[in-house]
Amino acid sequence: MKEIDWSKLGFHYTEPDYIVRSAYHEGVWEEPYATKDKFLHLHVSATCLQYGQEAFEGLKAFRGVDGKIRIFRWRENAKRMARSAEGLYMAPVPEEIFGKAIHLALEKNMDFVPPYGTGATLYFRPLLIGTTPRLGVGPGRDFEFIVIPSPIGPYYPGKFHCTTFVVNRHVDRAAPYGTGTFKVGGNYASSFRATEPAHAQGMDCLFLDAKYHRYIDECSAANFIGIKKLSAVSHQPSEIEYLTPRSSAILPSITNDSLMTLARDKGYKVTRRHIRLEELEQMSEAAACGTACVISPIDKVIDPEKNKIYHLSDQPEPILTDLYHSLKDIQYGRAEDRHGWCEVIE
Ligand SMILES: Cc1ncc(COP(=O)(O)O)c(C=O)c1O
Repeated sequence: MKEIDWSKLGFHYTEPDYIVRSAYHEGVWEEPYATKDKFLHLHVSATCLQYGQEAFEGLKAFRGVDGKIRIFRWRENAKRMARSAEGLYMAPVPEEIFGKAIHLALEKNMDFVPPYGTGATLYFRPLLIGTTPRLGVGPGRDFEFIVIPSPIGPYYPGKFHCTTFVVNRHVDRAAPYGTGTFKVGGNYASSFRATEPAHAQGMDCLFLDAKYHRYIDECSAANFIGIKKLSAVSHQPSEIEYLTPRSSAILPSITNDSLMTLARDKGYKVTRRHIRLEELEQMSEAAACGTACVISPIDKVIDPEKNKIYHLSDQPEPILTDLYHSLKDIQYGRAEDRHGWCEVIE
């Protein structure tokens, strides 16, 4: 085990011993191999540099209460990366190559899997880039798939807490039917104009749909969830609605998919539809969700242009707090994995 203060890591890159690489030439993927070399010998005209032919992923391995390592739903990340690849006219990485690379990255960096109880995890950043040199606008024919592992600290080193979001109508994250549904670097670079000013004020950014600026799209780099109580008197689970946006411009979050399944298991009504910003007034709880945080509860949403503040709650509320713990319990092996989401490494 490495001498690392796991609780102080934060979401920062810690140099692993090995990364894993596999190149694609003439229609064939090379067998993934581990290397200590963290640099690429890349042509200056490679399509990833010239035309943004790049896609990435993010997933985690957890050291469980039983000491075993669990990789969470990596096949879903493999499928999403294949969709992103097709969306940018790149060769999709076959699930077999993706799986081999993740497992090899884990095997070669076992010392970087944080111990149970620290809240830290081993994060994998799979990356796919176009490497063909091209001057004329168009896609490449050669690609490189890389898995970069890095231990990361707990998202909540202190208390599970809320974040404030701010609406920005001057910057759109992604166009309807654009690349928002793919996990590609360009979506993030083009969001910085909105996310960086929000971060500078200690907040995060809530993106509305780009066409009407009426519906909630995404929370920065996470999906949005709202909880509505359907009855003022009954507290039956069937009177609780888990709401999440339907949009052609958002990334299909694997965490959101898992939370929706858990919400259904608990008897809640799960609805995916267009959600107007004003509907925040009818929600008892709201949150951002994604691999990094699982759930990040929202205390308020500020809409500066309309001079409006939607107040939710100053502290995390029970329904989303319970869902947060339910998913984390599965990831850490404290609860039965009824849906077979974790691959347990013996
Ligand atoms: C734009 C965006 N939306 C949503 C998510 C959450 O997805 P997941 O739960 O698969 O991490 C992410 C993070 O990957 C993201 O970058």
